[in-house]
Amino acid sequence: MDIATFRRVAPMRLQVSQWKANGHIVGVVPTMGALHDGHLSLVRAARENADRVIVTIFVNPKQFNNADDLTNYPRTEESDKKKLAPFGVDAIYAPAATEIYPEGFSTNISVANVSDGLCGAHRPGHFDGVATVVTKLLLQTGADVVFFGEKDFQQLKIVKRLVRDLDIPTRIFGCPTVRDKDNLAMSSRNSQLSARDRAAAPALYQAISAARDKILSGQTIESALQKARSDILAAGFADVEYLELRDEADLQPTNQVDKPARLLVAATIGGVRLIDNIQVP
Ligand code: PAF
Repeated sequence: MDIATFRRVAPMRLQVSQWKANGHIVGVVPTMGALHDGHLSLVRAARENADRVIVTIFVNPKQFNNADDLTNYPRTEESDKKKLAPFGVDAIYAPAATEIYPEGFSTNISVANVSDGLCGAHRPGHFDGVATVVTKLLLQTGADVVFFGEKDFQQLKIVKRLVRDLDIPTRIFGCPTVRDKDNLAMSSRNSQLSARDRAAAPALYQAISAARDKILSGQTIESALQKARSDILAAGFADVEYLELRDEADLQPTNQVDKPARLLVAATIGGVRLIDNIQVP
């Protein structure tokens, strides 16, 4: 049976209010479509922790700082629906652009500090776009719980902060990164890699795992990161946008690993920008 698909906020809200009237907990998985096993793991987590599951599909123009990136972003709604079918998803919310950004839309949600640096420094406006659309999707769906992957770790921290700051009554689940057999983090962008670049791409995870091991065995952070950077470039990446150790709690730069930290990386191969991160220790 087809999953009910809502394009407008009013019928989506009506459906959610009926579920809530029956005491059901509503779980939401926000996506931009082009679903892969990483998304499906979030759907599984939603299924286990909520009574009703909504998957949102909206390619959010406001979070693309590069017009080609927006144009090339895969749009695969029909195959996305097929992938969701076995998971007992209750509804897809794939709003028309005007439901998110009606004419005259003038509001911008900007989360300071956690948005600084890392992807925030290299993709101007990206996180304002994410924060604005996530706020709208949470309010439009009335999500009781929402599920995000740890692969986009900075995004997860930003959403946690905005939900807290704006008193949005939604609980956030951060779910572990899902990896291919060769440890490449799953991403909708992986489908844009040539066969040669796809074969080289796992070097990103190998490099950060090796750096983590070196740091934990007492090597200086600087030398471990320098080696990781040169390994990534040697594997065929064109550049390393950032490779940094950050405090896991507030995402500020750190050179200590006696409390939880994250090693985060972004690098480009064949024109495709990949990100990954790993917990240290
Ligand atoms: O992670 C994503 O796919 C997007 O940034 C999100 C959270 C769906 C907002 O557009």
